[in-house]
Amino acid sequence: MSFLDIAKKRYTVRSYTSQKVEQDKLDQILEAAHVAPTGANCQPQHLIVVQSEEGLAKIGKGANIYGAPLAIIVCSNHDEAWKRPFDGKKLTDIDASIVTDHMMMEATDLGLGSVWVCYFKPDVIRKEFDLPDNLEPVNILVIGYADTSSEPVLSPDRHKETSFRKPLSKTVSYEHL
Ligand SMILES: Cc1cc2nc3c(=O)[nH]c(=O)nc-3n(C[C@H](O)[C@H](O)[C@H](O)COP(=O)(O)O)c2cc1C
Repeated sequence: MSFLDIAKKRYTVRSYTSQKVEQDKLDQILEAAHVAPTGANCQPQHLIVVQSEEGLAKIGKGANIYGAPLAIIVCSNHDEAWKRPFDGKKLTDIDASIVTDHMMMEATDLGLGSVWVCYFKPDVIRKEFDLPDNLEPVNILVIGYADTSSEPVLSPDRHKETSFRKPLSKTVSYEHL
């Protein structure tokens, strides 16, 4: 499948079966994270893979993970991320999000569903997972097998409808705004 085919196939899954994600698939998802680029190759990410009942319950205190069997808390280390000298902007969020996107696309290619979660209580996640101050939980990537009996599979052609995406002309311009 081409990259564009995978990108069009992916959609946010908010209902999962109880089927666990196989270790070889998880390994491939983590390998996709491993090869992701980061600013100045600083690699400030730390991924906390959560699959145990106890761990998922801990995440559940601070986030809705839609009953999925696997969640990866994507953290970024403020002491390791590259900082732009001109304005001091740190690449913590950007690097964590590239890593998250790589994993999400790999999960799609493996036939898994996913939802990227930012609507979570960072203080709760920090406390439950004993995160030090310099490690910020940026994203939670929720992964599992889509429960297609609860939610139908979305068509890869859906982006043509303006209810799914703004037309390209609204988000792209050439040479000037
Ligand atoms: C950065 C980011 C944060 C998101 N946070 C959440 C979230 O906290 N909870 C949720 O249910 N979906 C979340 N989503 C999923 C978006 O709502 C979804 O991607 C968007 O509606 C487009 O739908 P699609 O993914 O099916 O194309 C998030 C997506 C992104 C990219």
